Amino acid sequence: MALSEKDAWKKAAAEAASHLVEDEMVVGLGTGTTAAYLISILGERVREGLNIVAIPTSEATRAHALAEGITIVGFSEQPKIDITIDGADEIATGSLDLIKGGGGALLHEKIVASASARMVVISDGSKLVPRLGGGFALPVEIIPFGWEVTISRLRDYAPEVRLRQSSGGAPFVTDSGHYIVDCAIEALDDPMRLETDLHAVVGVVETGLFVGIASEAFIADASGVRRLTRQLA
Ligand code: A5P
Repeated sequence: MALSEKDAWKKAAAEAASHLVEDEMVVGLGTGTTAAYLISILGERVREGLNIVAIPTSEATRAHALAEGITIVGFSEQPKIDITIDGADEIATGSLDLIKGGGGALLHEKIVASASARMVVISDGSKLVPRLGGGFALPVEIIPFGWEVTISRLRDYAPEVRLRQSSGGAPFVTDSGHYIVDCAIEALDDPMRLETDLHAVVGVVETGLFVGIASEAFIADASGVRRLTRQLA
């Protein structure tokens, strides 16, 4: 089946970033539709002889990687990751700060990205924005106990805060057994300030703001694949 234009761009970005992966590397594998292209591409290279081990950012990614024949390891065996390649929901031009968590895997994604020498983002061009926020609602992972109270505290920072639900209507539960709330936020001048404020709310486990974590991005659109590097302010 032919890929849609957007899927072709996601695949092109994944393909371009996949060339950064070399023999003997420990690779952090992202979650989502764009990362899935990367996992398939790396699986093909592994079957051709590429020797890597990987740490996945979700159960879905673990299952996909294993099905592709990629060796999965844990942090007890490999506490340091050479490179993590992952998708994003918004990417700020210049800083390459991110909003992530549309797929609900933000906590594991952030742990893996933070343990990596290099974090590379892959995306189609629609995710690139001048400033984070004002579009995609910011996912925040919270403890289920007292979620009603936590949500009401989060309303101090976002006018609209919504508990994410699964298709059946029950709360969406992350791989770590937490809930996700999606917070509609204004475009941000200072993402780190919001990150700090949200972390001070009791019941918040982690936010989908990735500030100063990604160093490069491969962005694909009709004009081809662009490689962006983080510009320090
Ligand atoms: C998963 O929790 C997310 O952070 C994804 O990386 C993000 O939503 C991008 O997903 P797609 O590649 O499917 O757009």
